[in-house]
Amino acid sequence: MAMRTLFLVSHVLAVTLLYASLAQGLNPKCETADHGSTLQVFHVYSPCSPFKPSKPLSWDESVLQMQVKDQARLQYLTSLVARKSVVPIASGRQIIQSPTYIVRAKIGTPAQTFLLAMDTSNDAAWIPCSGCVGCPSTTLFASDKSTTFKTLGCEVAQCKQVPNPTCGGSACSFNLTYGGSTIAANLSQDNITLATDSVPDYTFGCIQRVTGSSTPPQGLLGLGRGPLSLLSQTQNLYQSTFSYCLPSFKSLNFSGSLRLGPVGQPKRIKYTPLLRNPRRSSLYYVNLIAIRVGRRIVDIPADALAFNPTTGAGTIIDSGTVFTRLVQPAYIAVRDEFRRRVNKPGVSSLGGFDTCYSDPIVAPTITFMFAGMNVTLPPDNILIHSSAGSTTCLAMAAAPANVNSVLNVIANMQQQNHRVLFDVPNSRLGVSRELCT
Ligand SMILES: *[C@@H]1O[C@H](CO)[C@@H](O)[C@H](O)[C@H]1NC(C)=O
Ligand SMILES: *[C@@H]1O[C@H](CO)[C@@H](O)[C@H](O)[C@H]1NC(C)=O
Ligand SMILES: *[C@@H]1O[C@H](CO)[C@@H](O)[C@H](O)[C@H]1NC(C)=O
Ligand SMILES: *[C@@H]1O[C@H](CO)[C@@H](O)[C@H](O)[C@H]1NC(C)=O
Ligand SMILES: *[C@@H]1O[C@H](CO)[C@@H](O)[C@H](O)[C@H]1NC(C)=O
Repeated sequence: MAMRTLFLVSHVLAVTLLYASLAQGLNPKCETADHGSTLQVFHVYSPCSPFKPSKPLSWDESVLQMQVKDQARLQYLTSLVARKSVVPIASGRQIIQSPTYIVRAKIGTPAQTFLLAMDTSNDAAWIPCSGCVGCPSTTLFASDKSTTFKTLGCEVAQCKQVPNPTCGGSACSFNLTYGGSTIAANLSQDNITLATDSVPDYTFGCIQRVTGSSTPPQGLLGLGRGPLSLLSQTQNLYQSTFSYCLPSFKSLNFSGSLRLGPVGQPKRIKYTPLLRNPRRSSLYYVNLIAIRVGRRIVDIPADALAFNPTTGAGTIIDSGTVFTRLVQPAYIAVRDEFRRRVNKPGVSSLGGFDTCYSDPIVAPTITFMFAGMNVTLPPDNILIHSSAGSTTCLAMAAAPANVNSVLNVIANMQQQNHRVLFDVPNSRLGVSRELCT
């Protein structure tokens, strides 16, 4: 009897605690402390994310929303490789076009916590700072409350590495575009704490002003490999090595992990060389040689896959795009063979997906054949199913027709539940299957 009462009391207590944390918009699992050099990774739609839609979206709505964001992301990546700005597509709806996965980081002394968007195609880190005009979130970094914060002056070497620097007053200020947004920031330094690692004097942009709706609400963690990136600034600590496991958006209660540094990285993993594009030093290019659908290697013109540092053509691995985009001739070859193998009438489309079925299908595997490494994707990385199970689509698309894209982007849905290892010193990228929990 006493046991039972005790159980009830503790149960009520647990439920109360659960409600208390739900009231703060947090799921209990979300507060798990990061350990070592490994950070939890959440999908922006996860219950742990303050950026999830205020009311749950239907399957069609969330897929369409992710596609609209992808369209904007593709334009942005294309503008990066082409080195010219592209006018963003008007979506007609208010959508925050920020990357898909977030990690927790602490800035300053005493530490202030932020959920930063992870972006492998960018170098810089920036945080919205107090006094910011136009920042999308009320979570701002109070630089005046940090005893270790510094604004950098125009004379510092880093001021030459930022885009469009100006010297208003004594601060090194700069402007940059990110997707459809323009950001004005001061070049600043403070400690950043990632899991249990503290990096003193980390250089980042303290955002003063934003226009447009593409900036991640609480800031960005650029995992590119160019100058000023996290990797460049933590050479001694992390040796330009990291890996992640991105949780599937079908299991939003799962978190993945971002593991920084060479310690604890998988030993048994397949590699392909990373290619370097000196004109776009932050992007992770790889050599995609061919694509296999089932057992057949599909017929893709060589120039649709070839790496060309001058035009920016080739294939990148990106954490911020959701659905893989292939240039037209490559996508059409894959799609046609996929349809031939499924061999069912009644192919329909849903938003940007052109290969959907309303009856259950048996889908072939798809294998990305990289130099030295074949990655065969299981159905979970290829197909998107409605929750009612009635519609199934091939979750890839051709590069948008209105963007003259030469870029193939291996996106995050195709990377989910895999460990992807970025080993910059050895200039290679590793991939192995892993269930991210
Ligand atoms: C920030 O770095 C300084 C040394 O540079 C250190 O004394 C301080 O404890 C650090 N703060 C945090 C929150 O790690
Ligand atoms: C940066 O943007 C602000 C407006 O947001 C503008 O006043 C300033 O001239 C810009 N600076 C540069 C270098 O483009
Ligand atoms: C950023 O720079 C501007 C122009 O120099 C200055 O007015 C502003 O106070 C600076 N903000 C911070 C937080 O240092
Ligand atoms: C995720 O967790 C929430 C509360 O913690 C729960 O209500 C929900 O059913 C879970 N969803 C799944 C798919 O397990
Ligand atoms: C990839 O698969 C093809 C067969 O489709 C095979 O010829 C090739 O050797 C494989 N490459 C590697 C690196 O295993």
